[in-house]
Amino acid sequence: MALLELNNVTKHFEVRQGVLQKLQRQPVSLIKAVQSVNLTLGENEVLGIAGESGCGKSTTCLMIAGMLQPSAGEIHFSGKRVDQLLASEQAWYRRQVQMIFQDPYESLNPRFRVLETVAEGPRALKLWPEKEILERSVDMLSSVGLPPAKYAERYPHELSGGERQRVGIASALVMEPRMVVADEPLSMLDVSIRAGILDLLKDLASKRHFSCVYVSHDLSILGHIADRLMIMYLGQAVEMGPTWEVIRNPQHPYTRALINAVPVPDPRVIRPVPTIRGEVSRPINPPPGCRFSPRCPHATTVCQQAFLQLQPDENKPHQTACVRLEELSQTNQLAEASP
Ligand SMILES: Nc1ncnc2c1ncn2[C@@H]1O[C@H](COP(=O)(O)OP(=O)(O)OP(=O)(O)O)[C@@H](O)[C@H]1O
Ligand SMILES: [Mg+2]
Repeated sequence: MALLELNNVTKHFEVRQGVLQKLQRQPVSLIKAVQSVNLTLGENEVLGIAGESGCGKSTTCLMIAGMLQPSAGEIHFSGKRVDQLLASEQAWYRRQVQMIFQDPYESLNPRFRVLETVAEGPRALKLWPEKEILERSVDMLSSVGLPPAKYAERYPHELSGGERQRVGIASALVMEPRMVVADEPLSMLDVSIRAGILDLLKDLASKRHFSCVYVSHDLSILGHIADRLMIMYLGQAVEMGPTWEVIRNPQHPYTRALINAVPVPDPRVIRPVPTIRGEVSRPINPPPGCRFSPRCPHATTVCQQAFLQLQPDENKPHQTACVRLEELSQTNQLAEASP
């Protein structure tokens, strides 16, 4: 049984109306941020989520972490439905799932010293006696590469971005979660320190045996850390599969373009410019079909009407949400028209 399961998870936000729109009784528009996403995450597995800005990655993470209520669908964790938890069960879930946020500057309380910050979560949930909480917090600081003698008494403003993110990681992992949701934890950091933090996360994931949902724009980071990948476009999951299969053999026209847009550090490699046209739009009242269809070089009217929803299946690990995929592969059109 999978540790985490999302069934048809959907999140729609209402667009706030101005006075004029209200007086004119205009219908409320919906931002369809996440549309009918299905996914599973196994024990000790790392699932990477990639896609352009605004495609619903953070909204998906917040729903998984129980910080945002889905508009429809179900989320199950360890066999238990967690999108409708009773107040008495919320503390249990808050411990099982921890989030690591994108912005290490905002995620720490400026009035708490480093050791207090790390000990805060276990204290709030009264996980262990005070002495044990302090011992575990000190050990955790050492595990994330922050020697307690040097860092325990510092305030966040006395730390670098990378050190703050290590404190964020320590605060999440001291809770001994079964799952970590990391929403672009490296994107605000200097390129030179990203590799160190990424290696640290990878090392801790294998030592401490937690599963992880890891969001990034950067496919090279996901290639390094994720076992499986899910590619999203404007709220829809368009492709899912083992990481290297998706990267080496992308199927969906959007994934193909995304992967071809990754720079290659070899000036001799000449690749055609991706044939995606137009700009990514906001998912306000989108049409029912594939949301990539207005930009897809292969789209026909069928694509505007129908969307193939991905359904996790152990026997078919690599899946693509393209109604024309078979036809395009048979006639070799994907390779010709796509980059
Ligand atoms: N609270 C909210 N109210 C209204 N719209 C929202 C809200 N949160 C997110 N959205 C909208 O939902 C869509 C998805 O946003 P989300 O933050 O999930 O994207 P993302 O993939 O994480 O983007 P990025 O890569 O820039 O972080 C966007 O169009 C965004 O404007
Ligand atoms: Mg985001």
